[in-house]
Amino acid sequence: MKELVKKLTEAFGPSGREEEVRKIILEELEGHVDGYREDGLGNLVVWKGSGERKVLLDAHVDEIGVVVTSVDDRGFLMVEPVGGVSAYMLLGKRLRFQNGKVGIVGLEGETTDEMRENLKNLSFDKIFVDVGANGREEAEKNFPIGTFAVYDARFEEMSGKFVSKAMDDRIGCAVVVEVFKRLKPRNVQLFGVFSSQEEIGLVGASVAAYDILPDEVIAIDVTDASDTPKGYKRHAMKLGEGPALKVKDRASISSRRILERLVEVAERNKVKYQMEVLTFGGTNALSYQKTRHGIPAATISIPTRYIHSPSEMVHPDDVEGAIELLLKYLEAS
Ligand code: CO
Ligand code: ZN
Repeated sequence: MKELVKKLTEAFGPSGREEEVRKIILEELEGHVDGYREDGLGNLVVWKGSGERKVLLDAHVDEIGVVVTSVDDRGFLMVEPVGGVSAYMLLGKRLRFQNGKVGIVGLEGETTDEMRENLKNLSFDKIFVDVGANGREEAEKNFPIGTFAVYDARFEEMSGKFVSKAMDDRIGCAVVVEVFKRLKPRNVQLFGVFSSQEEIGLVGASVAAYDILPDEVIAIDVTDASDTPKGYKRHAMKLGEGPALKVKDRASISSRRILERLVEVAERNKVKYQMEVLTFGGTNALSYQKTRHGIPAATISIPTRYIHSPSEMVHPDDVEGAIELLLKYLEAS
């Protein structure tokens, strides 16, 4: 699983530019699915089994990033966020563009006062990207307007924990891939949706929901683990305490029936889990719930430190726990 997580998280795939990730997933799943298709929006849909009940597992393939909005006379780039990326988080970091080239995020300011002021209220107007270009022409050639970039970061293992960019939500993709590899479906037709463009507003999943019309959905995504010094007090989620069963976040309330069955299956099979109430954020579960007659949906979350940073940290035990819980849940249905 570690190799898969490394491969998935190091791949380039901001919202709308997810081809590389889809390709890796398809290669991984070869021989483990009955069929697949890619829809017009860039969702990769796979399926397996022929039961009457349609169960759909969703994980989004896209990651946050930036896109070039303009190039100045000296070849510095201005960028705009793609999804929830903060200018504070970007400052001083390296970015990697789709062409493999690197940029550095710098701070504007002609005086110390101006820099201090800019830092206080940092926004995308006050940062720039230095690609080392010798003038506008060179920069425009390699980084034309509309070029996407993501954090430049490698996978690391730290005392058994996994750290990388884009754990949100390639760790969910890894979970769904592993479930497809290990499951021998009996009574369900299982769909896997590796959805596009979640980070810009749960976009891809809404199309997949309408297209497949499953009987129930479980989204797999990350949630905030605040088990750090002075971590956010109103969140109880911790690394290593098992997958988090989401009760609610700012976007959706998990289907009570699915949630209760997940708890029951976890208890019966002694899979360690924790309950989650997230005071911000949302997952693709919302897109399914709002489709047609209202598809019952819930979310299983992987507790993650430093979400939307270049170093998102997860515990592999929580990932394995999520896979195990899903397998038991699907076998029980
Ligand atoms: Co996210
Ligand atoms: Zn996510």
